[in-house]
Amino acid sequence: MAVSPQFGALERKIKSRSARIGIVGLGYVGLPLAVEFAQAGFRVVGIDVDERKVRSVNNGISHIEDVASDTLKPLVEDGLIRAQADYKGCGKLDAILIAVPTPLRKTKDPDISYIVASLDAIAPQVRAGQLIILESTTYPGTTDEVMRPVLEAGGLKVGRDIFLAFSPERVDPGNKLYQTKNTPKVVGGTTPSCTKAAALLYGQAIEHVHPVSSTQSAEMIKLLENTFRAVNIGLVNEIALMCEKLGLDVWEVIDGAATKPFGFMRFYPGPGIGGHCIPLDPHYLAWKLRTLNYSARFIELASEINGHMPEVVVRRASAMLNDAKKSVKGSKIFVLGVAYKKDTGDVRESPALDVIRLLQEEGATVSFHDPYSNAIRAEDGRIEKGVALTPRSLKAADLVLIITDHSVFDYAAIVKSARRVLDTRNATRGVTIGRGKIEKL
Ligand SMILES: NC(=O)c1ccc[n+]([C@@H]2O[C@H](COP(=O)([O-])OP(=O)(O)OC[C@H]3O[C@@H](n4cnc5c(N)ncnc54)[C@H](O)[C@@H]3O)[C@@H](O)[C@H]2O)c1
Repeated sequence: MAVSPQFGALERKIKSRSARIGIVGLGYVGLPLAVEFAQAGFRVVGIDVDERKVRSVNNGISHIEDVASDTLKPLVEDGLIRAQADYKGCGKLDAILIAVPTPLRKTKDPDISYIVASLDAIAPQVRAGQLIILESTTYPGTTDEVMRPVLEAGGLKVGRDIFLAFSPERVDPGNKLYQTKNTPKVVGGTTPSCTKAAALLYGQAIEHVHPVSSTQSAEMIKLLENTFRAVNIGLVNEIALMCEKLGLDVWEVIDGAATKPFGFMRFYPGPGIGGHCIPLDPHYLAWKLRTLNYSARFIELASEINGHMPEVVVRRASAMLNDAKKSVKGSKIFVLGVAYKKDTGDVRESPALDVIRLLQEEGATVSFHDPYSNAIRAEDGRIEKGVALTPRSLKAADLVLIITDHSVFDYAAIVKSARRVLDTRNATRGVTIGRGKIEKL
């Protein structure tokens, strides 16, 4: 592969770790990445439009659970990480990694406006020798079709003067075993030298880098991973509905199937899916395929089944109250856990919010407790605050509804004090006393 002088200069800076790295978006993805590069000895500038995050990073205080302030603070004090709320000085950076949100519009179409906004701020300052990498999850084609023309508009050519790649982030919030450093990183560049430059950069801070042939392939890899999860969760949620009809315990069925040492992988049913990835990302793929007159049937079906789960929970809650000669209207329901995932405080797209709203619409008085998230925003914008988890608050409820199976909950104590429990996560599996009060999804 013939390399341009620009590539050679960038390569030297990366290998000597004198390359200056910019990370756009200091969220769940960007901040851990900034820490990894700083720990590898690079100077990192974090750019985030949220001034509170910028201030907090500059004070060495982490706003992300997976990044300890004790880890961040010395890096800030040593001048390896600094944050700013604007794009000043972007032209001085050698590599810019973009990790901004990629939500969906109400119509479930991709909203890449955050990528476009950051690109519009970077493009006027782009200079020869820079490496730009998109990390935000998006549909195949975004890097080459949307980013490349904007970056080349000033006359610089990707692959010769500047280098462009896509590298999906795989951060799994709360995962103690796999974090940014030891999670293999897929990298696909617009040209072979783009791939090489991006792989070289990540190789300084991340243990294993997996180069692929194009940006589109790298974009698709991320969507396969998340579609795989969404579809399998949809499947197991449907199996849960089937088990309910058949009078079977879906958790026993899953445990039994999982004794097969090959060809089966556990997925669990639950009150629905949440977070920034699984409910959203597959729709990026479905949208792209719609533009090509192809219907992504598995994605649509999984989305329908998973999206229906909060209603299933409300129906089950209503049936339990009915058995006790009570109606949902006027009942007190105590929800345990509002985060979409155990041991995190992330309530983005959390099914708990739908369950709470549906129960309130039916006239229930709903309170909640989550050790990681003390407040939620209702649909009308009101902030609802959590209440303490005490024997008294449990006893006061007609129904205790376990939505998030946080490890810190004492499930035996919860069951002991509760009048009845609907457990959507099989979190009470170890509880032996009071099982008669529990119903599982
Ligand atoms: N959170 C995850 O578990 C996860 C995992 C893999 C991939 N991703 C993907 O990574 C991307 C980022 O996700 P996240 O969870 O880190 O989001 P986040 O909301 O935690 O962080 C994004 C940050 O970008 C900032 N921002 C928004 N617009 C900006 C702009 N124009 N310029 C500078 N900063 C801007 C926001 O203030 C925010 O701090 C998304 O595409 C997401 O799908 C997320």
